[in-house]
Amino acid sequence: MTVSPASNPTTNQPAGAAEDRVWIFDTTLRDGEQSPGASMNLEEKVEIARTLEALGVDIIEAGFPIASPDDFAAVRSVAERTSRARVAGLARSLKGDIDRCAEAVKPAGSRARIHIFLATSAIHREFKLNKAKEEIVKQAREAVAYARTLCDDIEFSPEDASRTEPDFLAEVVEAVIGAGARTVNIPDTVGYAYPEDYAALIRYLKTNVRAIDQAVISVHCHNDLGLAVANSLAAVRAGARQVECTINGIGERAGNGALEEIVMAMRVRKDQFPGATPGSRLWTGIEAERLYGASRLVQSITGLPLQRNKAIVGDNAFAHESGIHQHGVIKNPETYEIMTPKSVGVPATNMVLGKHSGRAALQQRLTTLGVGVADTDIDKVFAAFKQLADKKKEIYDGDLIALIEEVVRGRTVSVWKLDYLHTSAVAGAAAGTQLATATVRLSKGDAVKTDAATGDGPVDAVVQAMNRLIGIVGEVEDYRLRSVSKGGDAQGEVSIRAKLTLPGQEAVVVGGKGLSTDIVHASALAWLDAVNRAGLIAGRQQIVS
Ligand code: KIV
Ligand code: ZN
Repeated sequence: MTVSPASNPTTNQPAGAAEDRVWIFDTTLRDGEQSPGASMNLEEKVEIARTLEALGVDIIEAGFPIASPDDFAAVRSVAERTSRARVAGLARSLKGDIDRCAEAVKPAGSRARIHIFLATSAIHREFKLNKAKEEIVKQAREAVAYARTLCDDIEFSPEDASRTEPDFLAEVVEAVIGAGARTVNIPDTVGYAYPEDYAALIRYLKTNVRAIDQAVISVHCHNDLGLAVANSLAAVRAGARQVECTINGIGERAGNGALEEIVMAMRVRKDQFPGATPGSRLWTGIEAERLYGASRLVQSITGLPLQRNKAIVGDNAFAHESGIHQHGVIKNPETYEIMTPKSVGVPATNMVLGKHSGRAALQQRLTTLGVGVADTDIDKVFAAFKQLADKKKEIYDGDLIALIEEVVRGRTVSVWKLDYLHTSAVAGAAAGTQLATATVRLSKGDAVKTDAATGDGPVDAVVQAMNRLIGIVGEVEDYRLRSVSKGGDAQGEVSIRAKLTLPGQEAVVVGGKGLSTDIVHASALAWLDAVNRAGLIAGRQQIVS
């Protein structure tokens, strides 16, 4: 008998037509958060979880509860404040981790999952764990059996599976299925796999593991060679029925497989996945029209920008620059488009609003864009829109979306606020002689502080002044500027990755974002955003598996 997640008595998915489809396991909140600078606070995690749920994700991996009290609280809140998706927490194969994880996912009730991992490859056994094969099998089996006493739905990951000897991998997988694991994940932890080999490994397990049909085979690919999506798709074609991925492909090092790419590759090329019709096997439950919104939200919250040419959701994904292409697309979009922007939720038109547009025009545009703004927020949004319209003649959809992210989602944790900023710089001065100055006033509650500093350029001067005012040491690890719409007066969105040391804390790497028609102002806001966020995450314990 083949046990799919649906016919598995431990899941609460509806049986029937959707029984044998591909389950989407999103790990944006866990592996995604392991991207340097991608830390999110609790409310942000809950907001992403709810968006993932609306998107149609089947399982949300919400964090690693033993890692820190913040991680625990986030997993618990996601478990409490979602209603349909399964909620998983990660745990090492240790009793303490499993107990903590079980407690965190408990509010999800029958939707709770514990995801246990233990490395199996020779290099991890020897250098990380210092354990023999038999000890690994025993520890994995005991961890799963123990977890099953606390939770019905257990997933097991043999970490670095793709570099593990296939016969030993089969032995571990068989042992954990015997102990009660209902999903066996085969991670390509270091992004080393090749599609053909990875597919062959899945087929090998299907042939060589007794009772493999009692579990769902899952895949989890990292992108170190840029092959995460290709490997995930090859594995599905070989029989995997759960794919672990993240929005925008964020994740440890080069990231994980990008959810939007995997889903759209399966949908656009259903010919490669025989039987992939709605509701049938090989169909995912993702509502593709929500992909763009989810991608924007994750960019906005993590402060991790996308390259313009990112597949599916990048700014250029549907832009046609050459005249020949434009001509063809106007006559028939299919000449150069294999999917429509609308099918993934990219706003179809770019209607321009301006200074004289009223509240009704703004509201109508937001509705057309599918951007929900609560009645209680509309005044705030309208005021910010008018302020922007005073600085900028034409307001494009990109401006509006960025404005909503800034004003409504309020990603900025306003501990320190920027009250005043003045910079001056001499452009074109000889190398090494260029000097810029910045005067900055910051406030925090009732405290107001002003200082001035010099730097190599205006942004450097602003950073120096702020660091001195707040009493921190910090350096810019990465700086990106993106225009959110068209024209010389377009708003600039600055994304910064900063390494910051707050008084009495260890250094943390954190992302910050700022938006303004003035790029120095946007940079100042981004730096302050990073500083405020660093205050929240500093001191979080790092777990090394
Ligand atoms: O990449 C990996 O191996 C992981 C496991 C914990 C599943 O993230
Ligand atoms: Zn991973």
